[in-house]
Amino acid sequence: MIKTEMAAALNEQINKEMYSAYLYMSMSAYSNKIGLKGFANWFMVQYHEEMYHAMKLYEYVQRQGEDVKLEALATPPASFESALDMFTQTLTHERYITQSINDLMDLAQSLKDHATQIFLEWYVTEQVEEEENDNDIIQQLNLIGSNPHGLLMLDRDLSSRMTTVPTDFSKGVEAAAA
Ligand code: FEO
Repeated sequence: MIKTEMAAALNEQINKEMYSAYLYMSMSAYSNKIGLKGFANWFMVQYHEEMYHAMKLYEYVQRQGEDVKLEALATPPASFESALDMFTQTLTHERYITQSINDLMDLAQSLKDHATQIFLEWYVTEQVEEEENDNDIIQQLNLIGSNPHGLLMLDRDLSSRMTTVPTDFSKGVEAAAA
């Protein structure tokens, strides 16, 4: 059992995670368009991660006996100035998501909702990793500057990123993760 206010805030977070997936899908398409296949791979892996984040919330809301309420997604940008621009926007977006998770945790604490606090801990930890990944790649892009050789080497590196989260939720998120 969770409060209606908590369920509404978790439903909003589903939308934010789905938008994150949409944003990284758009970045993946743009990377492909400009010939950076490794970046395209990295962002498509990130797309799957975001769908997993959304689906974990989707399942949690239902397990707590509340309704999932899906809203329309905003349109993500379709073009970017550079690889650095994509990762700078990614980091800005992830900081916004981190704040959103922190706000959810504050709400769960104020409602004395222990189950949701425990559920959200996973997201708190995940956001540290997400921001760290983005910061690492931004640092490398700053070192590369306008050197195309360096950019292609990083592109090759990013092509090795693999999807580690489940992608088939037809039997439920927890079953998929088991
Ligand atoms: Fe779901 Fe990238 O935070």
